[in-house]
This record gives sequence, structure tokens and C-alpha cells, in this order.
Amino acid sequence: MVIEGIITTENEDGSMHVAPIGPHVDPDLHSWTLKPFKTSKTFERLHHSGRGVFHVVDDGLLMIQAVLGQAHSAFPSLDARHHPECGWVLVDAVRAIPLSVQLWDTSTERAVAECSAGPWIEVRSYWGWNRARNSLLELAILLSRRHMMSRDSLDQAIAHHRVIIEKTAGPRELQGLALAMDCLRDSDD
Ligand SMILES: Cc1cc2nc3c(=O)[nH]c(=O)nc-3n(C[C@H](O)[C@H](O)[C@H](O)COP(=O)(O)O)c2cc1C
Repeated sequence: MVIEGIITTENEDGSMHVAPIGPHVDPDLHSWTLKPFKTSKTFERLHHSGRGVFHVVDDGLLMIQAVLGQAHSAFPSLDARHHPECGWVLVDAVRAIPLSVQLWDTSTERAVAECSAGPWIEVRSYWGWNRARNSLLELAILLSRRHMMSRDSLDQAIAHHRVIIEKTAGPRELQGLALAMDCLRDSDD
């Protein structure tokens, strides 16, 4: 199965790089396989250092921020603390799981990295289920795949999630929706 979350890696100057990722795991979270596209910065950083920190998150705004990347100026920075033993830990995550790559297979477009997990860092308690947050996760996926989708199917999916978000959101989720919509508008221009 796949767990959706956010991975931090380290840039060459030691600063944080952040991106959503969906590792393949077993239900007990003992085995970790990352499948980053070889064109991604995350692949480049993981391949270089052999380590990253996977974050279990329950915050849709954080997920939208991560998929837009830090270079986007329209949103507040993703706060993180550096732990010398494992790397960057996001302060708004639920749990951080340090991963070390043990084995690479780079023979396909999506590289495969078998990882071992270090001691988990519990950051805060899990907030709970919320449909707006789930829909923001889906919007983040749509944002990352929009170049592969037709305009019609993208618009249809966005409209579906927008209704759910507007019905069930709190202020952070509405901010996430606004960011996602801004980004989609920018990519139309
Ligand atoms: C929830 C979610 C899960 C994702 N999982 C993966 C993944 O497993 N592998 C991958 O290559 N991209 C995945 N993506 C897409 C990347 O996050 C996206 O392509 C991103 O722009 C890569 O950024 P980077 O080049 O800065 O590393 C995922 C996106 C989302 C929203």
C-alpha cells in the first residue's frame, strides 16, 4: 500500500528541499520503498545524500505548500528544524520518519529506493479526519499531474473537490484552496 506524505531532503548548501511523496509500505510501516521520478529534485538529493525525512501529515495546506515548492512566493514558509542526525523535520507534521536508502534501482523512469527507517520523531498528535483536508490532498495530486491531464478532466475534478472543501473547511483549508486555485490560474496565463 501507499502512504501519502512529505519528504524533506538537503540541498547542497544544507538548506531544506521539500516535496510530497507516496512511499510503498507494509501496513506496519516496517518496509519503505520510495519511487521518485529521476527528473525530480528529490531524486537528485536522495541519490546524493542517501537520506531524507518522510513526514506523516494531516494538514492539507501543508500538502499544497509542499507541492507548489518553496520558490512560490505567495505562501508562508514551511517551518522546519534541522536535526543533525537525520535532517529537516517539519514543525507542522504529525510524525517524522528518517529514511536511509539501502539499495537503488535506477533502471526505470521512476527510480526505486529500498530504505530503512530510523527512530520515529513524534511531533504532535493526529488531528482527525476532515473531508476538506482529504480533498486538498487530491488537489495536490492534481496539481502535480496537471501537465498530463486534459483541461476538461482537470476542471471537473477541481469542481468536485471545491464543493467538498467549501462545505467542510476551516481557515487553513480555505487558504490551501486559494493557493491551489492561484497556482492553477498562474499556469493558465
Ligand atoms: C500526494 C503526492 C504524492 C506524490 N508521490 C510521488 C512519488 O511517489 N514519486 C514521485 O516522483 N512524485 C510524487 N509526487 C509528485 C511530486 O511531489 C512532484 O512531481 C514534485 O514536483 C517533485 O518535486 P521535486 O522535483 O522538487 O522533487 C507526489 C505528489 C503528491 C501531491
